[in-house]
Amino acid sequence: MDLKFKKSSEDTRKIKSEIALGNNPLNIDSYIDYAEDKIKDTTNHDYAHIVSSGNAGIFIGLSYINGDVLIPDQGGWNGFKQISRFLNKPFETVKTNLGLIDIDELNNTLSNLDKSKVNGLILTSFAAYTAEQNIKEISEICHENDVILIEDVSGSIGDSKLANGKYSDIIVGSTGSPKILNVEDGGFITTNIKEVFDNNRILLKSFKSNEITAGGIISELKNASSNLNKYIDACNYLKNNIDNVVHADKRGINVFIKNDDPKHFSWNLRQELVLDSHGMVTKCPNYNRLKEKGVALEIKNLDISQLSKSNLDEIIEIVKKYQ
Ligand SMILES: Cc1ncc(COP(=O)(O)O)c(C=O)c1O
Repeated sequence: MDLKFKKSSEDTRKIKSEIALGNNPLNIDSYIDYAEDKIKDTTNHDYAHIVSSGNAGIFIGLSYINGDVLIPDQGGWNGFKQISRFLNKPFETVKTNLGLIDIDELNNTLSNLDKSKVNGLILTSFAAYTAEQNIKEISEICHENDVILIEDVSGSIGDSKLANGKYSDIIVGSTGSPKILNVEDGGFITTNIKEVFDNNRILLKSFKSNEITAGGIISELKNASSNLNKYIDACNYLKNNIDNVVHADKRGINVFIKNDDPKHFSWNLRQELVLDSHGMVTKCPNYNRLKEKGVALEIKNLDISQLSKSNLDEIIEIVKKYQ
């Protein structure tokens, strides 16, 4: 089965190339200012910066934390650990139920923290890209314990419950490929806490974005919600028609299938699910997905044009053949 890897929309590619040529395709004074306004409208925060990558946003967000950094024990993003280490911030893992934060465990862990420091919990909106965190409840517990909640919304920007500044204190995201805002590079960070940026001028300068990426972000934001929902709907359909799926009842943008022999299962799937020169099969255990035997089918890596029912039915048949 030949599938196409996700591309920026044609509009986005045109806008980026016009800006690169020195034109002003959207008739805007500053693409960076406008992109920052649009991003903060989307996340319901007062302050926003677009930056050079998703990891740059994480660097800035974690720099604000001067106490402990808490991360999920699986289903997060490797950068959370690597950047905490680089910044010399002690980090601790929070127990999850296959990526989903265990609310009681969270309560226990947070209540034992040294409250004289600024502590932070950083997580992705979708655990392992496959199941949405209960962000409202997590936010309540963080706030009861004076812990800053940092949400990585690379996979969820455009949603109304996830990626919402009503719940998360700091929101970060990647606009690289193949993310929901698929601009090929860049990222963003938003918050209501002015000090996150005031204390971090040097990082903001070091990780600055550019007008071309800003133009791409403005363009991609227009379709973020509808694109996101198409990926979620496609995954729902797959989850309902494939056996041994983890978190089958939860919203997500990939599908995790348990399997005792992930080496062969993933090899077989890769022979059949050919995605240009890219991949859509992640062999697990893997911290960024789940520390379980199985594979993650990265539906989020497919171009939006590839999510037809006939394609999804073919994917289901291929999976069944090797399960
Ligand atoms: C959830 C998540 N956060 C952050 C990043 C890092 O983004 P970037 O490559 O833009 O630094 C990635 C990259 O794949 C990611 O999946």
